[in-house]
Amino acid sequence: MSWQAAENRYEGVPYVRAGRSGLQLPAVALGLWHNFGLEADFERQREIVRTAFDHGITHFDLANNYGPPPGSAETNFGRLLDLDLRPYRDEIIVATKAGYTMWPGPYGDWGSRKYLVASLDQSLKRMGLDYVDVFYHHRPDPNTPLEETMAALDYIVRSGRALYAGISNYNGAQTRAAAAELRRLGTPCIVNQSKYSMLVRQPEADLLPALEEEGIGGVAFSPLAQGLLTDRYLGGVPADSRVAAGVGFLRPEHITEERVQLARALDMVAREGGRSLAQLAVQWVRRQPAITSVLIGASKPAQVLEAVRALEMPPLDGEELAAIETILG
Ligand SMILES: NC(=O)c1ccc[n+]([C@@H]2O[C@H](COP(=O)([O-])OP(=O)(O)OC[C@H]3O[C@@H](n4cnc5c(N)ncnc54)[C@H](OP(=O)(O)O)[C@@H]3O)[C@@H](O)[C@H]2O)c1
Repeated sequence: MSWQAAENRYEGVPYVRAGRSGLQLPAVALGLWHNFGLEADFERQREIVRTAFDHGITHFDLANNYGPPPGSAETNFGRLLDLDLRPYRDEIIVATKAGYTMWPGPYGDWGSRKYLVASLDQSLKRMGLDYVDVFYHHRPDPNTPLEETMAALDYIVRSGRALYAGISNYNGAQTRAAAAELRRLGTPCIVNQSKYSMLVRQPEADLLPALEEEGIGGVAFSPLAQGLLTDRYLGGVPADSRVAAGVGFLRPEHITEERVQLARALDMVAREGGRSLAQLAVQWVRRQPAITSVLIGASKPAQVLEAVRALEMPPLDGEELAAIETILG
């Protein structure tokens, strides 16, 4: 008997329109950057994805290089589709990307049409899909004409490999230029995926206003600063944490006394409001009108549930926001 998703799955998270597009995305999305590679426990992956979908998280974010090794998160997601999710394909948004190093030589990196089309074809094969819902250019390429990269996105959509085009790690000016080019081609840019959290606020000055003006939905990645904005590191480095795993960019040297003190102060504000620090961090990102989806990662189903619960809580009030601002300095 195949897996049945919870019947009440659409009672959980709210859906937000991505910019001025027709696409509504769940206010919290699940990313498969970490914990979905070859070495990660597959049954755990399955539980995390099932929990997300059971609670209305319809948006799963991948990239060609997620793993390790690169490609293995897409392969595993393909298996999860086979096991559980394929009957629900029309209820799911699958996003993937290309833009970072994927294979050797001049055609396996950056932003040429050659790389983007070949990479997406590989991604589709790994996931066993005919199309993805969103295809992102993963990072700006200073050496390829923007016109070529955007024409590749336009082609990818017109050829049916993706339904929508997006860009990632493009700043405000780069986003405006890309959006103008895509508009000229007739394939709008509907999402921009960028890092945004209480610890990374650069998008506020430049990117978020551009997103609102251009009618592009903001997808905020690493909203929990990879775990720094949760209770994970308040009392040391747990053995099952991302830092202890030693496979990513979050390293023991990033868990400084100063950051832990800051997290402790934010944790106090969270607790006074009846929240966890992770829930405070989700709500703080979500308060921005330019943000469509808060894109979390998770190593266990309970972490997904905690983010979903955050969406059921009242938004942060003026006093809480002021207290946070004082702490962030
Ligand atoms: N476009 C890009 O360039 C780009 C770059 C980076 C990420 N992304 C996307 O964004 C997604 C999210 O990034 P991220 O994983 O860095 O996000 P994050 O949500 O900031 O960090 C996720 C980590 O925080 C911890 N965590 C999550 N919920 C928690 C909770 N309730 N309590 C305690 N700890 C909790 C877990 O760490 P433990 O594993 O230690 O439990 C989890 O793995 C990625 O999967 C990817 O899809 C995109």
